Amino acid sequence: MRRGKDAKRKENRNSGDSHFQTATHLSCYASGLLRIQLTTNFMTTSVTESEINQESARLMALGLHSKCVEGRRDHIAALTLKINRLKKEKNAVICAHVYQVPEIILGIGDFVGDSYKLADDSRGTAADIIVFCGVRFMAETAAILNPSKKVYIPSLDAGCSLSESVKAEDVRALKAAHPGAPVVTYINTSAEVKAESDCIVTSANAEKILRRIYEKNKEVIFIPDKFMGANLAKVLAKKPGEDMILWNGTCVVHEHFDARVIALYRKNYPGLAVLAHAECPSDIINAVDYMGGTGDMMRYVENTNAPAYLLVTECGFGELARIKFPDKNFIAMCRLCPYMKAVTLENVLQTLENPSKEKLVTVPPDTADKARVAIEKMFKLAA
Ligand code: 13P
Ligand code: SF4
Repeated sequence: MRRGKDAKRKENRNSGDSHFQTATHLSCYASGLLRIQLTTNFMTTSVTESEINQESARLMALGLHSKCVEGRRDHIAALTLKINRLKKEKNAVICAHVYQVPEIILGIGDFVGDSYKLADDSRGTAADIIVFCGVRFMAETAAILNPSKKVYIPSLDAGCSLSESVKAEDVRALKAAHPGAPVVTYINTSAEVKAESDCIVTSANAEKILRRIYEKNKEVIFIPDKFMGANLAKVLAKKPGEDMILWNGTCVVHEHFDARVIALYRKNYPGLAVLAHAECPSDIINAVDYMGGTGDMMRYVENTNAPAYLLVTECGFGELARIKFPDKNFIAMCRLCPYMKAVTLENVLQTLENPSKEKLVTVPPDTADKARVAIEKMFKLAA
């Protein structure tokens, strides 16, 4: 989606894991070998100093040399080493959304990307286990698409304000109030809501799919993000409330940016390219050069040459952009998603070592079957 000005175009680390405590201890062994012990409630494992040094070097070569991991590098290396070993042993893969911390994305991620790419990638894996470093609706989507595999979410706190804003009964009420209007549902929703929907969309394909759906329909129900809905309605020249029936959901990260700050940055950085996620309110979108999902935004940065970029989205995206494009200049304007940041290397390790029943993401088969039809429709219409 290219829109905006020019285009008119808790955190509670290991919580939900409150039964799980991680501690690190440095100790020298009689042999003179330095070991870092990672102690969990479940098991203790150790890795040698030379293994940690090698892993540190690997992580540095991947770009994990920013100041924010300084002082924690050995700890991170010990965790990624162990996680990567366990992945092999258990035939597991890790899907990592771009809002995750860099040590997860670079250190242990097998599939990295936006919600569309991760859903698509999950379908192609031969692994027996998928650990989803993202939020629950993403893991649920992978579980729906891969009923024979075990899908885990490392933290029970990895929810999403959009997903929590709407329930299946709300969708049934909307359908009753607007008979015949197809329900187009953002992927940031529960399996039960997806099961009540006609077609799922992500930020990567919502515009394209809605265009196709409007070819045959005058009125469409778009849930749950009222800001994304309004932004899309503008792009498609549709009237919110009439052609597009919206729900009152918002993203707690994107709803709080301030357009006045964008104006200030533009004064200070001539030529600044401003990009915002499509979940931002319309006053933000009107002030930016590009609106899109995280995949589109990353491609925009890659394919343009602005003197500086202002990224109006979750902070993990900017961290990754800095690593991927070290020669480009990024200005910070971001907010942390407490749900995305609930996933840590520690709770990923715990999930692989000894997964609790609660972290196994399951969807009742009849719900999954209905939701899968709406997700498959997305793949078909997005192609
Ligand atoms: P993307 O699909 O654009 O990565 O968005 C997911 C999300 O949760 C944004 O807040
Ligand atoms: Fe949900 Fe917003 Fe977090 Fe994305 S950034 S997972 S939409 S709360």
